[in-house]
Amino acid sequence: EKGGWSSFMAKEISEEPEALEQTLLGRVHDGLVVLDEISGGVDDETLRAVDRIVVLGAGTAAYSGLLGKYAIEKWAGVAVEVDLAHEFRYRDPVLGPNTLVVSISQSGETMDTLMAVKYASERGARTLSICNTQGATIARESDAVLYTRAGPEVAVASTKAFTAQVVALYLFGLHLGRVRGVLSDEDSRAHVAELQALPAKLQEVLLQGDAVREMARQMSDTRSVLFLGRHVGYPVALEGALKLKELAYIHAEGFAAGELKHGPIALIEPGQRVFVIVPSPRDSSSLHPKVVSNIQEIRARGAHVLAIAEAGDVAVLPFADEVLRIPLAGPMFEPLLAVAPLQQFAMELAAAKGLDVDQPRNLAKSVTVE
Ligand code: BG6
Repeated sequence: EKGGWSSFMAKEISEEPEALEQTLLGRVHDGLVVLDEISGGVDDETLRAVDRIVVLGAGTAAYSGLLGKYAIEKWAGVAVEVDLAHEFRYRDPVLGPNTLVVSISQSGETMDTLMAVKYASERGARTLSICNTQGATIARESDAVLYTRAGPEVAVASTKAFTAQVVALYLFGLHLGRVRGVLSDEDSRAHVAELQALPAKLQEVLLQGDAVREMARQMSDTRSVLFLGRHVGYPVALEGALKLKELAYIHAEGFAAGELKHGPIALIEPGQRVFVIVPSPRDSSSLHPKVVSNIQEIRARGAHVLAIAEAGDVAVLPFADEVLRIPLAGPMFEPLLAVAPLQQFAMELAAAKGLDVDQPRNLAKSVTVE
């Protein structure tokens, strides 16, 4: 039931803080991640021996997987490759007994992903699935399962399940880092605290819904929107573009901001709308000034810049046409705050065009054929 919301999608976006909270529930003890639930199929000994992780999914699930790559490589020091499930088994993927395949699927029934998991199992890889549906086929076919607890997702375009998938991947990354002895308890606790602080921060982000609606209404005749992000902002850019395609049928593309000068900047002409996910200025990586200079470059060519930036980041103000704010969080956790405004934006733009937000044309919630 929509319970007073204009669409299931609006309701499901509003449930994201709860999806985050539920996915953390019972998995943190004394400030540290405890994932006993996967140890039946993927035990600590296996995790210590893993030399490579392959993450598989389709659509939104593949983008949450990309965020998982950044977190797992950073916290656990294991090489992670992210592949589209439907590409994976049609080449000759290299799999060994120490390859762990992590599949991501909201429904747990996507045929492309299921077939990829079966392929990996048959070739001796260990399989862990991240799934939102209790007892789903992919979960049953995997050695272990880590459930996201986003609750049922009805709208075809995924929102709260994405957020929960990222949290599940982060929990797994923290678990793996500790099991392998590369992540100190102290660092681990700091990351867990960041996760636990997210639901309240996300609630705050969602309060900007009216501003996002206004922004979307002004753009209802826009034909093309670009999304730029860097590091963990890159998967956010990809997901923002996917949402806009799915819901508002607008040509949209996400790019890694560093690619701009290698091609996409040729697309910039006066009036081109560009969302930019701006990294935190507090981060020592120096990515913030690089992305701000990207903004200057596209602005100089006439782009209309819509920035998603941390509260208090004033460096973007002279160059951005519009700014949406996210509360302060560690760099790895910002995507969990930055993606919601893009989900809202796609939904509002679709609504402004009079489209069916919950059931976009040509799409199905779960594609059970190859
Ligand atoms: C697509 C859906 O068909 O499948 C997307 O339209 C979804 O919203 C993708 O992200 C993957 O689905 P699942 O259930 O495997 O996560």
